[in-house]
Amino acid sequence: MRIFVTGAAGFIGFHICRRLLDDGHVVDGFDGLTPFYDQGLKAERRARLEGRNGFRLHVAMLEDEAALAAALAAAKPEVVIHLAAQAGVRYSLENPRAYLASNIVGTFNLLEALREAPPRHLLMASTSSLYGVSRHIPFVEHQHTDQPLTLYAASKKATEVMAHAQAHLWSIPTTAFRFFTVYGPWGRPDMAPLKFVDAIEAGRPIDIYNNGEMRRDFTYIDDLVEGIVRLIDCIPQPAPDGATDEPALSPVAPFRVVNIGRGEPVNLLDFIEEIERKLGKRAVRNYLPMQKGDVPVTFADCHLLERLTGYRPSTGVREGVGALVDWYRAHGPLKPA
Ligand SMILES: NC(=O)c1ccc[n+]([C@@H]2O[C@H](COP(=O)([O-])OP(=O)(O)OC[C@H]3O[C@@H](n4cnc5c(N)ncnc54)[C@H](O)[C@@H]3O)[C@@H](O)[C@H]2O)c1
Repeated sequence: MRIFVTGAAGFIGFHICRRLLDDGHVVDGFDGLTPFYDQGLKAERRARLEGRNGFRLHVAMLEDEAALAAALAAAKPEVVIHLAAQAGVRYSLENPRAYLASNIVGTFNLLEALREAPPRHLLMASTSSLYGVSRHIPFVEHQHTDQPLTLYAASKKATEVMAHAQAHLWSIPTTAFRFFTVYGPWGRPDMAPLKFVDAIEAGRPIDIYNNGEMRRDFTYIDDLVEGIVRLIDCIPQPAPDGATDEPALSPVAPFRVVNIGRGEPVNLLDFIEEIERKLGKRAVRNYLPMQKGDVPVTFADCHLLERLTGYRPSTGVREGVGALVDWYRAHGPLKPA
């Protein structure tokens, strides 16, 4: 298939593109190579992709409608996987405007551009942050998500509801997946897993919020990629009379929301201990209160993913942290933020 992947030089986009190329697809990547974190890391991912047959990268921002239209016209995609976004919960307190531009305007531009030539399936990244401090645990797709705690979560909610409207109006089958703290090789240097590895290895203190009383549904990158790839062929289609026994499937649009998480939250302190064990070094711990906008627990209900795809993420923290640290040691320290 011809597949268009936005955010291709990002952490998740890079892994998805590699897997799609391994599977024999033709992949057009699209990425603005933003300076949110070390652009050198994006350049390394990009170089690895550009060395592969069947891949080309369009370097532009989603906000640039003409560049986006030209890239889509050249790619003629059958499937679009939309991962480009201003990510990060904490950074959204510092620079909320970046989230409006990349996530809301950027996603709107993509949705509008796809009206011209709708793909067979649009798959797009949303986030577990939408569940906020919900007491309904584990988080299930059809529960209430109208009380976001940050502009990041609010902007992602906006992308979901815009995509629902466009799916209804222009018959674009759309799946929005909600990811849960993804980690692994080539990860994001602004996120705790890689930040902790880098700091512990260098003997720098690590900041631990809410005094470590947090649980996260850490999801290993290969599991996430497997879930996404399997969902490509699960094209949402509402019944003609709107009747459905699946509450995450819209009754009025070819639109569905799916969690992709490990489904097994881990205490933050246990995650840190696993890094210490693998590195053979103790962390210098700097305990801090809860940060604004943060949540004490994330926990994915993965039944829908399993029912649709027959797949359930299974990589545990020992294996996942092991692969992250092995990659880190081969790759070398991160550039200072
Ligand atoms: N990593 C996680 O744990 C996690 C969790 C929940 C949701 N997500 C979502 O998954 C997606 C991918 O996340 P990631 O961790 O790979 O992040 P990332 O920052 O590594 O990748 C995003 C990529 O998009 C590009 N980009 C950003 N804004 C752009 C714009 N306006 N136009 C063009 N390109 C732009 C960046 O240059 C970057 O390469 C994002 O939508 C993110 O919100 C990630």
